[in-house]
Amino acid sequence: MTQGVESRRAALTLLDAVLRHGKSVDGAMGRAFRHLKRADDRGLAAAIVGEVLRRLPDYDRLIDSATKNPLPDDAKARMVLRMALAQALALDTPHHAAISTALPLLTGGPKRLAHGVFGTLSRQDVELPEVPTLPGSVVERWSAAWGDAMVAAAARAIAAPPLLDLTLADPAETDALATALEGVSLLPGHVRRERAAVTGLPGYAEGRWWVQDIAAGLPARLFGHGEGRAALDLCAAPGGKTLQLAAQGWNVTAVDRAESRLARLSENLARTGLSAELVTADALQWAAPAEAYDAILVDAPCSATGIFRRHPDVLYRASPRVIVESAEIQTAMLDRAARWLKPGGTLVYAVCSLEPEEGEAVARGFLESHPAFAVAPIESEALPAGLATAPEGWLRILPGEIADPGGSDGFFIVRFRHS
Ligand SMILES: C[S@@+](CC[C@H](N)C(=O)[O-])C[C@H]1O[C@@H](n2cnc3c(N)ncnc32)[C@H](O)[C@@H]1O
Repeated sequence: MTQGVESRRAALTLLDAVLRHGKSVDGAMGRAFRHLKRADDRGLAAAIVGEVLRRLPDYDRLIDSATKNPLPDDAKARMVLRMALAQALALDTPHHAAISTALPLLTGGPKRLAHGVFGTLSRQDVELPEVPTLPGSVVERWSAAWGDAMVAAAARAIAAPPLLDLTLADPAETDALATALEGVSLLPGHVRRERAAVTGLPGYAEGRWWVQDIAAGLPARLFGHGEGRAALDLCAAPGGKTLQLAAQGWNVTAVDRAESRLARLSENLARTGLSAELVTADALQWAAPAEAYDAILVDAPCSATGIFRRHPDVLYRASPRVIVESAEIQTAMLDRAARWLKPGGTLVYAVCSLEPEEGEAVARGFLESHPAFAVAPIESEALPAGLATAPEGWLRILPGEIADPGGSDGFFIVRFRHS
Protein backbone atom coordinates (compact mmCIF):
# COMPACT_ATOMS: atom_id res chain seq x y z
CA MET A 1 0.00 0.00 0.00
CA THR A 2 1.22 3.53 -0.76
CA GLN A 3 2.92 4.92 2.31
CA GLY A 4 0.81 7.45 4.15
CA VAL A 5 -2.58 6.24 2.93
CA GLU A 6 -3.69 5.24 6.43
CA SER A 7 -3.26 8.76 7.80
CA ARG A 8 -5.28 10.11 4.85
CA ARG A 9 -7.97 7.47 5.48
CA ALA A 10 -8.15 8.58 9.12
CA ALA A 11 -8.34 12.23 8.01
CA LEU A 12 -11.23 11.34 5.68
CA THR A 13 -13.08 9.58 8.53
CA LEU A 14 -12.65 12.63 10.74
CA LEU A 15 -13.70 15.08 8.04
CA ASP A 16 -16.77 12.97 7.37
CA ALA A 17 -17.67 12.94 11.08
CA VAL A 18 -17.45 16.75 11.20
CA LEU A 19 -19.06 17.73 7.91
CA ARG A 20 -21.69 15.00 7.56
CA HIS A 21 -22.47 14.16 11.18
CA GLY A 22 -21.91 17.49 12.96
CA LYS A 23 -19.26 16.11 15.33
CA SER A 24 -16.42 18.20 16.72
CA VAL A 25 -12.85 17.49 15.63
CA ASP A 26 -11.81 17.02 19.27
CA GLY A 27 -14.75 14.73 20.01
CA ALA A 28 -14.37 12.52 16.92
CA MET A 29 -10.59 12.39 16.67
CA GLY A 30 -10.00 9.53 19.11
CA ARG A 31 -12.20 7.13 17.15
CA ALA A 32 -11.15 8.35 13.69
CA PHE A 33 -7.44 8.01 14.52
CA ARG A 34 -7.63 4.77 16.53
CA HIS A 35 -5.63 2.78 13.95
CA LEU A 36 -2.84 5.35 13.71
CA LYS A 37 -0.07 4.26 16.03
CA ARG A 38 2.53 6.91 15.26
CA ALA A 39 2.26 10.47 16.57
CA ASP A 40 3.57 11.75 13.21
CA ASP A 41 0.71 10.08 11.34
CA ARG A 42 -1.86 11.48 13.78
CA GLY A 43 -0.26 14.91 13.44
CA LEU A 44 -0.42 14.76 9.65
CA ALA A 45 -4.04 13.62 9.62
CA ALA A 46 -5.00 16.41 12.03
CA ALA A 47 -3.12 18.99 9.95
CA ILE A 48 -4.94 17.90 6.77
CA VAL A 49 -8.34 18.16 8.44
CA GLY A 50 -7.46 21.53 9.97
CA GLU A 51 -6.36 22.97 6.63
CA VAL A 52 -9.42 21.66 4.80
CA LEU A 53 -11.74 23.25 7.38
CA ARG A 54 -9.79 26.52 7.40
CA ARG A 55 -10.34 27.07 3.67
CA LEU A 56 -13.10 24.72 2.60
CA PRO A 57 -14.98 27.21 0.33
CA ASP A 58 -11.71 27.96 -1.50
CA TYR A 59 -11.00 24.28 -2.17
CA ASP A 60 -14.58 23.80 -3.32
CA ARG A 61 -14.35 26.71 -5.71
CA LEU A 62 -11.26 25.14 -7.29
CA ILE A 63 -12.90 21.73 -7.52
CA ASP A 64 -16.02 23.21 -9.11
CA SER A 65 -13.93 25.11 -11.65
CA ALA A 66 -12.58 21.79 -12.93
CA THR A 67 -15.79 19.70 -13.10
CA LYS A 68 -18.58 19.94 -15.67
CA ASN A 69 -21.29 18.85 -13.21
CA PRO A 70 -20.75 20.01 -9.63
CA LEU A 71 -20.08 17.13 -7.24
CA PRO A 72 -22.57 16.84 -4.36
CA ASP A 73 -21.32 18.60 -1.25
CA ASP A 74 -20.89 15.35 0.66
CA ALA A 75 -19.55 13.22 -2.23
CA LYS A 76 -16.54 11.15 -1.22
CA ALA A 77 -14.62 12.34 -4.29
CA ARG A 78 -15.11 15.96 -3.16
CA MET A 79 -13.92 15.14 0.38
CA VAL A 80 -10.82 13.39 -0.96
CA LEU A 81 -10.08 16.20 -3.41
CA ARG A 82 -10.38 18.78 -0.62
CA MET A 83 -7.78 16.82 1.32
CA ALA A 84 -5.40 16.40 -1.62
CA LEU A 85 -5.63 20.11 -2.46
CA ALA A 86 -5.07 21.13 1.17
CA GLN A 87 -1.86 19.11 1.17
CA ALA A 88 -0.64 20.37 -2.20
CA LEU A 89 -1.57 24.04 -1.72
CA ALA A 90 -1.30 24.65 2.03
CA LEU A 91 0.88 21.92 3.55
CA ASP A 92 3.67 21.83 0.94
CA THR A 93 3.11 18.15 0.12
CA PRO A 94 4.51 17.33 -3.35
CA HIS A 95 1.56 17.06 -5.77
CA HIS A 96 2.35 13.45 -6.73
CA ALA A 97 2.33 12.42 -3.04
CA ALA A 98 -0.91 14.31 -2.37
CA ILE A 99 -2.75 12.51 -5.17
CA SER A 100 -1.13 9.07 -4.89
CA THR A 101 -2.22 8.87 -1.24
CA ALA A 102 -5.69 10.16 -2.09
CA LEU A 103 -6.67 7.85 -4.93
CA PRO A 104 -6.59 4.59 -2.89
CA LEU A 105 -9.45 6.07 -0.82
CA LEU A 106 -11.71 5.96 -3.91
CA THR A 107 -12.76 3.37 -6.49
CA GLY A 108 -14.29 3.34 -9.97
CA GLY A 109 -15.78 6.52 -11.45
CA PRO A 110 -15.07 8.79 -8.45
CA LYS A 111 -11.43 7.70 -8.53
CA ARG A 112 -11.07 8.58 -12.22
CA LEU A 113 -12.88 11.85 -11.67
CA ALA A 114 -10.68 12.88 -8.70
CA HIS A 115 -7.56 12.00 -10.67
CA GLY A 116 -8.73 14.15 -13.59
CA VAL A 117 -9.75 17.14 -11.45
CA PHE A 118 -6.51 17.13 -9.46
CA GLY A 119 -4.45 16.81 -12.67
CA THR A 120 -6.29 19.74 -14.30
CA LEU A 121 -5.79 21.98 -11.26
CA SER A 122 -2.12 20.98 -10.93
CA ARG A 123 -1.45 21.84 -14.57
CA GLN A 124 -3.11 25.23 -14.07
CA ASP A 125 -0.77 25.98 -11.14
CA VAL A 126 -3.73 27.14 -9.08
CA GLU A 127 -3.14 29.01 -5.82
CA LEU A 128 -5.23 29.80 -2.77
CA PRO A 129 -6.41 33.39 -2.23
CA GLU A 130 -4.34 35.26 0.33
CA VAL A 131 -7.39 35.79 2.54
CA PRO A 132 -9.50 32.65 3.02
CA THR A 133 -13.20 32.62 2.19
CA LEU A 134 -15.57 31.94 5.10
CA PRO A 135 -18.61 29.66 4.62
CA GLY A 136 -21.58 31.53 3.08
CA SER A 137 -23.95 30.92 6.01
CA VAL A 138 -21.38 32.33 8.46
CA VAL A 139 -20.72 35.39 6.29
CA GLU A 140 -24.46 36.07 6.12
CA ARG A 141 -24.99 35.68 9.86
CA TRP A 142 -21.96 37.69 10.98
CA SER A 143 -22.37 40.51 8.49
CA ALA A 144 -26.00 40.91 9.62
CA ALA A 145 -24.92 40.95 13.28
CA TRP A 146 -21.63 42.87 13.15
CA GLY A 147 -21.08 44.29 9.65
CA ASP A 148 -18.73 43.60 6.75
CA ALA A 149 -15.56 44.85 8.46
CA MET A 150 -15.93 42.16 11.14
CA VAL A 151 -16.37 39.48 8.47
CA ALA A 152 -13.25 40.68 6.65
CA ALA A 153 -11.27 40.61 9.93
CA ALA A 154 -12.53 37.11 10.70
CA ALA A 155 -11.50 35.89 7.24
CA ARG A 156 -7.99 37.28 7.76
CA ALA A 157 -7.88 35.73 11.22
CA ILE A 158 -8.65 32.19 10.02
CA ALA A 159 -5.72 32.14 7.58
CA ALA A 160 -3.37 30.54 10.13
CA PRO A 161 -3.55 29.06 13.62
CA PRO A 162 -3.12 31.76 16.28
CA LEU A 163 0.02 32.56 18.26
CA LEU A 164 0.48 31.01 21.69
CA ASP A 165 -0.96 32.97 24.63
CA LEU A 166 0.09 32.13 28.18
CA THR A 167 -1.38 33.23 31.50
CA LEU A 168 1.15 33.57 34.30
CA ALA A 169 0.51 32.29 37.81
CA ASP A 170 2.23 35.39 39.21
CA PRO A 171 1.83 38.67 37.25
CA ALA A 172 4.97 39.97 38.98
CA GLU A 173 6.89 37.60 36.68
CA THR A 174 5.58 39.22 33.49
CA ASP A 175 8.79 40.92 32.35
CA ALA A 176 11.05 38.03 33.32
CA LEU A 177 8.90 35.40 31.63
CA ALA A 178 8.27 37.51 28.51
CA THR A 179 12.05 37.65 28.10
CA ALA A 180 12.64 33.97 28.91
CA LEU A 181 9.86 32.90 26.54
CA GLU A 182 10.93 35.32 23.79
CA GLY A 183 7.43 36.77 23.77
CA VAL A 184 5.58 40.02 24.28
CA SER A 185 3.11 40.92 26.99
CA LEU A 186 -0.19 42.63 26.14
CA LEU A 187 -1.33 42.77 29.77
CA PRO A 188 0.31 42.10 33.16
CA GLY A 189 0.23 38.34 33.70
CA HIS A 190 0.09 37.58 29.97
CA VAL A 191 2.75 36.55 27.45
CA ARG A 192 2.29 35.92 23.71
CA ARG A 193 4.84 34.07 21.63
CA GLU A 194 5.30 31.90 18.53
CA ARG A 195 3.63 28.49 18.60
CA ALA A 196 5.78 25.70 20.01
CA ALA A 197 5.55 22.41 21.91
CA VAL A 198 4.72 23.84 25.32
CA THR A 199 6.33 21.18 27.49
CA GLY A 200 9.81 22.30 26.41
CA LEU A 201 9.28 26.01 27.13
CA PRO A 202 10.83 27.79 30.15
CA GLY A 203 8.58 27.71 33.19
CA TYR A 204 6.27 24.91 32.01
CA ALA A 205 7.58 22.16 34.27
CA GLU A 206 7.56 24.52 37.28
CA GLY A 207 3.94 25.46 36.54
CA ARG A 208 4.64 29.17 36.21
CA TRP A 209 2.08 29.55 33.40
CA TRP A 210 -0.62 27.76 31.42
CA VAL A 211 -1.91 28.10 27.87
CA GLN A 212 -4.90 30.44 27.60
CA ASP A 213 -6.02 32.84 24.89
CA ILE A 214 -5.79 36.45 26.05
CA ALA A 215 -9.57 36.94 25.69
CA ALA A 216 -10.28 33.75 27.63
CA GLY A 217 -8.08 35.12 30.39
CA LEU A 218 -10.23 38.22 30.93
CA PRO A 219 -13.37 36.83 32.72
CA ALA A 220 -11.54 35.50 35.81
CA ARG A 221 -9.55 38.73 36.15
CA LEU A 222 -12.84 40.59 36.75
CA PHE A 223 -13.20 39.03 40.21
CA GLY A 224 -10.00 40.59 41.53
CA HIS A 225 -8.29 39.16 44.62
CA GLY A 226 -10.19 36.47 46.51
CA GLU A 227 -8.47 36.64 49.90
CA GLY A 228 -9.73 33.18 50.70
CA ARG A 229 -13.39 33.85 49.87
CA ALA A 230 -15.53 31.21 48.17
CA ALA A 231 -15.80 31.11 44.36
CA LEU A 232 -17.76 28.69 42.19
CA ASP A 233 -16.52 27.96 38.66
CA LEU A 234 -19.59 26.33 37.18
CA CYS A 235 -18.32 25.07 33.82
CA ALA A 236 -14.73 24.74 34.79
CA ALA A 237 -12.87 22.23 32.65
CA PRO A 238 -10.21 22.09 31.32
CA GLY A 239 -9.65 24.81 33.83
CA GLY A 240 -7.70 27.86 32.68
CA LYS A 241 -10.08 30.09 34.61
CA THR A 242 -10.08 27.86 37.71
CA LEU A 243 -6.28 28.17 37.78
CA GLN A 244 -6.57 31.96 37.52
CA LEU A 245 -9.12 32.15 40.33
CA ALA A 246 -6.98 29.93 42.56
CA ALA A 247 -3.89 32.02 41.74
CA GLN A 248 -5.89 35.16 42.61
CA GLY A 249 -6.49 33.74 46.10
CA TRP A 250 -10.04 32.40 45.74
CA ASN A 251 -11.15 29.21 47.46
CA VAL A 252 -12.51 27.58 44.30
CA THR A 253 -15.10 24.86 43.74
CA ALA A 254 -14.83 23.77 40.11
CA VAL A 255 -17.83 21.97 38.62
CA ASP A 256 -17.97 20.33 35.20
CA ARG A 257 -19.96 17.43 33.88
CA ALA A 258 -17.09 16.05 31.75
CA GLU A 259 -14.88 13.83 33.89
CA SER A 260 -12.18 13.50 31.21
CA ARG A 261 -11.89 17.30 30.98
CA LEU A 262 -11.73 17.61 34.78
CA ALA A 263 -8.83 15.13 34.71
CA ARG A 264 -6.90 17.69 32.65
CA LEU A 265 -7.72 20.31 35.26
CA SER A 266 -6.35 17.98 37.97
CA GLU A 267 -3.09 17.64 36.03
CA ASN A 268 -2.80 21.41 35.63
CA LEU A 269 -3.48 21.98 39.33
CA ALA A 270 -0.74 19.47 40.19
CA ARG A 271 1.72 21.11 37.78
CA THR A 272 1.06 24.63 39.02
CA GLY A 273 0.79 23.74 42.71
CA LEU A 274 -2.60 25.50 42.88
CA SER A 275 -5.66 23.97 44.50
CA ALA A 276 -9.40 23.73 43.91
CA GLU A 277 -12.17 21.34 44.87
CA LEU A 278 -13.30 19.44 41.77
CA VAL A 279 -16.90 18.25 41.37
CA THR A 280 -18.14 16.15 38.48
CA ALA A 281 -21.77 17.17 38.06
CA ASP A 282 -24.34 18.56 35.65
CA ALA A 283 -24.71 22.21 36.62
CA LEU A 284 -28.41 22.05 35.78
CA GLN A 285 -28.96 19.21 38.28
CA TRP A 286 -26.28 19.77 40.92
CA ALA A 287 -27.42 20.30 44.50
CA ALA A 288 -25.24 23.24 45.54
CA PRO A 289 -24.03 23.45 49.15
CA ALA A 290 -26.28 25.51 51.48
CA GLU A 291 -23.58 28.16 52.00
CA ALA A 292 -23.77 30.78 49.22
CA TYR A 293 -20.72 31.91 47.19
CA ASP A 294 -19.02 35.31 47.04
CA ALA A 295 -18.21 34.87 43.36
CA ILE A 296 -19.57 32.68 40.57
CA LEU A 297 -18.19 32.27 37.07
CA VAL A 298 -20.45 30.83 34.38
CA ASP A 299 -18.12 30.21 31.43
CA ALA A 300 -20.96 28.49 29.72
CA PRO A 301 -21.11 25.86 26.98
CA CYS A 302 -21.87 27.68 23.73
CA SER A 303 -21.70 27.48 19.95
CA ALA A 304 -17.97 28.28 20.40
CA THR A 305 -17.83 30.24 17.15
CA GLY A 306 -15.36 32.64 18.81
CA ILE A 307 -12.64 29.99 18.71
CA PHE A 308 -12.88 29.47 14.94
CA ARG A 309 -9.18 30.25 14.43
CA ARG A 310 -8.05 27.21 16.40
CA HIS A 311 -11.15 25.07 15.82
CA PRO A 312 -12.46 25.92 12.33
CA ASP A 313 -14.92 22.99 12.60
CA VAL A 314 -17.17 25.24 14.75
CA LEU A 315 -18.09 27.19 11.61
CA TYR A 316 -19.74 24.07 10.18
CA ARG A 317 -21.37 22.90 13.40
CA ALA A 318 -22.94 26.09 14.78
CA SER A 319 -26.37 25.79 13.17
CA PRO A 320 -29.17 28.19 14.14
CA ARG A 321 -30.62 25.35 16.26
CA VAL A 322 -27.33 24.86 18.14
CA ILE A 323 -27.15 28.61 18.81
CA VAL A 324 -30.73 28.77 20.15
CA GLU A 325 -30.28 25.67 22.32
CA SER A 326 -26.97 26.95 23.70
CA ALA A 327 -28.58 30.26 24.66
CA GLU A 328 -31.36 28.38 26.48
CA ILE A 329 -28.82 26.34 28.47
CA GLN A 330 -26.90 29.52 29.36
CA THR A 331 -30.10 31.17 30.58
CA ALA A 332 -30.91 28.15 32.75
CA MET A 333 -27.38 28.06 34.19
CA LEU A 334 -27.42 31.76 35.06
CA ASP A 335 -30.79 31.35 36.72
CA ARG A 336 -29.40 28.60 38.96
CA ALA A 337 -26.15 30.47 39.64
CA ALA A 338 -28.09 33.59 40.70
CA ARG A 339 -29.67 31.60 43.55
CA TRP A 340 -26.27 30.48 44.87
CA LEU A 341 -24.69 33.94 45.11
CA LYS A 342 -24.44 35.99 48.32
CA PRO A 343 -25.94 39.50 48.34
CA GLY A 344 -23.13 41.82 47.28
CA GLY A 345 -21.52 38.92 45.37
CA THR A 346 -20.22 38.95 41.80
CA LEU A 347 -21.44 36.82 38.91
CA VAL A 348 -19.51 36.73 35.64
CA TYR A 349 -21.07 35.22 32.52
CA ALA A 350 -18.80 34.54 29.55
CA VAL A 351 -19.12 32.73 26.22
CA CYS A 352 -16.57 32.20 23.45
CA SER A 353 -19.32 32.82 20.93
CA LEU A 354 -19.66 35.40 18.17
CA GLU A 355 -23.45 35.10 18.10
CA PRO A 356 -25.46 37.93 19.74
CA GLU A 357 -28.24 35.42 20.58
CA GLU A 358 -25.71 34.10 23.08
CA GLY A 359 -23.97 36.87 25.03
CA GLU A 360 -25.96 40.10 24.62
CA ALA A 361 -29.45 38.57 24.37
CA VAL A 362 -28.88 36.20 27.28
CA ALA A 363 -27.44 39.01 29.44
CA ARG A 364 -30.45 41.27 28.67
CA GLY A 365 -32.87 38.43 29.47
CA PHE A 366 -31.06 37.75 32.74
CA LEU A 367 -31.27 41.39 33.84
CA GLU A 368 -35.00 41.49 33.05
CA SER A 369 -35.77 38.37 35.04
CA HIS A 370 -33.38 39.11 37.95
CA PRO A 371 -34.08 42.64 39.22
CA ALA A 372 -31.68 42.15 42.15
CA PHE A 373 -28.77 42.07 39.68
CA ALA A 374 -27.13 44.95 37.78
CA VAL A 375 -24.18 45.15 35.41
CA ALA A 376 -20.95 46.11 37.16
CA PRO A 377 -19.23 47.80 34.21
CA ILE A 378 -15.89 46.40 33.12
CA GLU A 379 -13.17 49.05 33.38
CA SER A 380 -11.65 49.68 29.93
CA GLU A 381 -8.27 50.45 31.60
CA ALA A 382 -8.02 46.82 32.68
CA LEU A 383 -8.24 45.58 29.08
CA PRO A 384 -5.58 45.01 26.41
CA ALA A 385 -5.12 47.85 23.90
CA GLY A 386 -7.79 47.82 21.22
CA LEU A 387 -10.65 46.70 23.47
CA ALA A 388 -13.33 48.94 24.95
CA THR A 389 -16.33 48.23 27.13
CA ALA A 390 -19.75 48.55 25.42
CA PRO A 391 -22.18 51.27 26.63
CA GLU A 392 -24.03 48.53 28.57
CA GLY A 393 -20.86 47.91 30.60
CA TRP A 394 -20.14 44.52 29.11
CA LEU A 395 -17.41 43.45 26.73
CA ARG A 396 -17.88 42.09 23.22
CA ILE A 397 -14.62 41.00 21.59
CA LEU A 398 -14.75 40.65 17.82
CA PRO A 399 -12.04 39.41 15.42
CA GLY A 400 -9.43 42.05 14.69
CA GLU A 401 -10.08 44.11 17.81
CA ILE A 402 -6.99 43.29 19.82
CA ALA A 403 -4.02 45.06 18.26
CA ASP A 404 -1.36 43.18 16.35
CA PRO A 405 0.40 40.94 16.75
CA GLY A 406 -2.08 38.16 16.62
CA GLY A 407 -5.67 39.02 17.58
CA SER A 408 -7.70 36.92 20.01
CA ASP A 409 -10.65 34.60 20.33
CA GLY A 410 -14.12 36.10 20.03
CA PHE A 411 -15.85 36.49 23.39
CA PHE A 412 -18.73 38.04 25.29
CA ILE A 413 -18.12 38.87 28.96
CA VAL A 414 -20.37 40.58 31.50
CA ARG A 415 -20.03 41.10 35.25
CA PHE A 416 -23.20 41.31 37.35
CA ARG A 417 -23.39 42.46 40.95
CA HIS A 418 -26.08 41.08 43.33
CA SER A 419 -27.54 43.97 45.35
C1 LIG B 1 -16.45 26.85 27.59
S1 LIG B 1 -16.06 25.35 28.30
C2 LIG B 1 -15.35 25.83 29.82
C3 LIG B 1 -13.90 26.24 29.73
C4 LIG B 1 -13.28 26.47 31.09
N1 LIG B 1 -14.02 27.42 31.89
C5 LIG B 1 -11.84 26.92 31.00
O1 LIG B 1 -11.54 28.08 31.24
O2 LIG B 1 -11.00 26.09 30.71
C6 LIG B 1 -17.62 24.78 28.81
C7 LIG B 1 -17.61 23.60 29.75
O3 LIG B 1 -18.93 23.37 30.17
C8 LIG B 1 -19.07 21.99 30.44
N2 LIG B 1 -20.51 21.73 30.48
C9 LIG B 1 -21.38 21.69 29.45
N3 LIG B 1 -22.63 21.46 29.91
C10 LIG B 1 -22.52 21.36 31.26
C11 LIG B 1 -23.45 21.13 32.30
N4 LIG B 1 -24.75 20.97 32.05
N5 LIG B 1 -22.99 21.07 33.57
C12 LIG B 1 -21.68 21.24 33.84
N6 LIG B 1 -20.75 21.45 32.89
C13 LIG B 1 -21.17 21.53 31.63
C14 LIG B 1 -18.30 21.32 29.33
O4 LIG B 1 -17.90 20.03 29.71
C15 LIG B 1 -17.12 22.28 29.15
O5 LIG B 1 -16.01 21.81 29.87
